[in-house]
Amino acid sequence: MDTLTSIPITRTRQSRITALDFDHLVFGATPTDHMFTATFRDGNWQNPQIVPFGDLTISPIALGLHYGQTVFEGLKAYRATAGHIQLFRPHKHHTRLNKSLERMGMPAVPEALFIGALHHLVELEQQWVPAKPGTSLYLRPLVVATEPRLGVKISEEYLFIVVAMPMADYYTGNLKVKVETGFSRAARGGTGAAKCGGNYGAAFYPAQQAKSSGFDQVLWTDATYHEFIEESGTMNVFFIIDGVLVTPPLSDSILDGVTRDSLLTLARAGGISVEERKISYKALEKAFRSGKTVEAFGAGTAAMVSPIEVIDILGKTYYPSVGPDTLMYRLKNELQALHTGTKKDSYYWNYIIQTVPQ
Ligand code: COI
Repeated sequence: MDTLTSIPITRTRQSRITALDFDHLVFGATPTDHMFTATFRDGNWQNPQIVPFGDLTISPIALGLHYGQTVFEGLKAYRATAGHIQLFRPHKHHTRLNKSLERMGMPAVPEALFIGALHHLVELEQQWVPAKPGTSLYLRPLVVATEPRLGVKISEEYLFIVVAMPMADYYTGNLKVKVETGFSRAARGGTGAAKCGGNYGAAFYPAQQAKSSGFDQVLWTDATYHEFIEESGTMNVFFIIDGVLVTPPLSDSILDGVTRDSLLTLARAGGISVEERKISYKALEKAFRSGKTVEAFGAGTAAMVSPIEVIDILGKTYYPSVGPDTLMYRLKNELQALHTGTKKDSYYWNYIIQTVPQ
């Protein structure tokens, strides 16, 4: 399939949008009326269509349910202040999806299929794209292995779906995190850089333990020495130490975050010193103890820029700066301005979808 200029659409009989409270959006709880689906069979993606959102029929012995061949993405559509809708960096999300799929032994999704799915779904669901500052339509592409076979093998059949749901803030307040030195998220050579379901499922228990001690998330350290900070929960992690933006370098145990990349680009363009380097929790502790100004935040598509106000390092508590004058808010505001089209899109990151009368 080279292009996806049109696609069959089966419309829902009864929209659910009138029941939606746009002032109280809960992440992931209110899917739009429709979803995109396509199947992979006989070596090809086929049957792309948009259908009413609903349950899937999948065999109880589908390989993906048993052995975890599932890969997903997360990206957003924003309502620009000029009225149109724009997807943020869908091509970069597509590249990452295919990298994840390759790592999981799954077939690539062609660019035209990915972009076409997003375009047609968002165009159809345009009334679901909220307009308030900080809100968006979250898009969740997912590829799951569906071949009905219990043998431990790579599946030959897959389902590609895209669902959409309006959202506001993922985290409603500043975060309290704990440096994790027991559990590991990802080891060298593993799947840490892939956006596969297993990475998230395996993180639930450590996160639950941290929550029971009053933290929102863990700050993952490397699996070899448990010393170098890697990610935080569902986000990449950044520090600003005496004005220098520091984030761990990409590796096979760190997700290549689109928000991460966008912030690094904006920071460099804005004259902020940037260091992509390893940072140990000991170095971080030293920075706090020597009186340096430290800001800390998580960055991700869902979480955007989420300030961290408390960091627990082996039982000692440190308090990064989180005031409105911090550098992270300057970066956050710049990124938000790009999302909504109030800052010139010099990087051509936005994919514009013109709204059409429904
Ligand atoms: C995202 O930021 O889009 C993610 O996929 C992280 C999380 C919500 C699972």
